[in-house]
Amino acid sequence: MEYYKIQLVAIVSFIFLFQNIQGWGEEGHYITCKIAQSRLSDTAAEAVKKLLPDYAQNDLASVCTWADRVKFYLRWSSPLHYADTPPRLCNFQYNRDCKDLDGVKGRCVVGAINNYTTQLLDYGKDTQYNLTQALLFLSHFMGDVHQPLHTGFTTDKGGNLIDVHWYRRKQNLHHVWDANIIETEEERFYDSNRDDFISAIQDNITKTWSDKVEGWEICSSDETACPNTYASEGIQAACQWAYKGAPEDSVLEDDYFLSRLPIVNLRLAQGGVRLAATLNRIFK
Ligand SMILES: *[C@@H]1O[C@H](CO)[C@@H](O)[C@H](O)[C@H]1NC(C)=O
Ligand SMILES: *[C@@H]1O[C@H](CO)[C@@H](O)[C@H](O)[C@H]1NC(C)=O
Ligand SMILES: *[C@@H]1O[C@H](CO)[C@@H](O)[C@H](O)[C@H]1NC(C)=O
Repeated sequence: MEYYKIQLVAIVSFIFLFQNIQGWGEEGHYITCKIAQSRLSDTAAEAVKKLLPDYAQNDLASVCTWADRVKFYLRWSSPLHYADTPPRLCNFQYNRDCKDLDGVKGRCVVGAINNYTTQLLDYGKDTQYNLTQALLFLSHFMGDVHQPLHTGFTTDKGGNLIDVHWYRRKQNLHHVWDANIIETEEERFYDSNRDDFISAIQDNITKTWSDKVEGWEICSSDETACPNTYASEGIQAACQWAYKGAPEDSVLEDDYFLSRLPIVNLRLAQGGVRLAATLNRIFK
């Protein structure tokens, strides 16, 4: 009996482990949150520190995948990780696209970013919301909205239904963008050292992209968060880079990897910079 129980637990954990990899993988989320926390104003850094659960030890990156881990029991939260768009239109329209599979409006990653931003504006007041959860959701979804295939086509579930090979391994296209490009980049160029990869991105934020960063940070008029823009950029990048040259059964190797890597780096950088900018506007 005990033996079967253990086996069952093993199988279930195995399934969960693999389902878990969704949205930027562990790496992508860790990286965006790490970049973001290093750019917080003193006031925002203080608020984040207060809101983080104790076990995070004031490291936002360490809990940046919390939202992926809870979606199996907080089932209502699973449509909030993405905003799929109609096939081949290559644009995002909130009213048309931001809904869950039952058609309930606002239930997509863009609606969720707005939702948790609004909740966090209650910080320091009496509130009905759990602002720790709001912070963890916002930090995670800001990463997700920057993964181009999180605004991919409804018909292929953002590339999840497109089977490809990543070098010699069977994979789906969504997962290639969640994890494989980042992992291969870390292995090949950073000796699998995540911190070195993060430093390289941060270096480019202050050098290569220095004249663009302010444009990434800014929201139009008096908005605190502007995820619509990020989703629009996302689906454009998906059409231009992710779907392109990656039909069903294709083998993706160096050509694809090396030409897409700059897009992934850019989206990781933008996600981090914008999460920080948003938190700095929330806690001012
Ligand atoms: C907004 O947040 C609340 C509390 O977590 C949640 O119940 C609701 O589903 C969220 N809605 C959206 C669109 O994110
Ligand atoms: C808020 O959510 C966090 C994370 O799920 C949980 O640990 C904490 O107990 C919650 N706080 C309250 C007051 O419910
Ligand atoms: C940083 O920028 C340089 C020059 O544009 C580029 O070659 C390199 O791949 C970039 N690295 C990262 C991690 O963005």
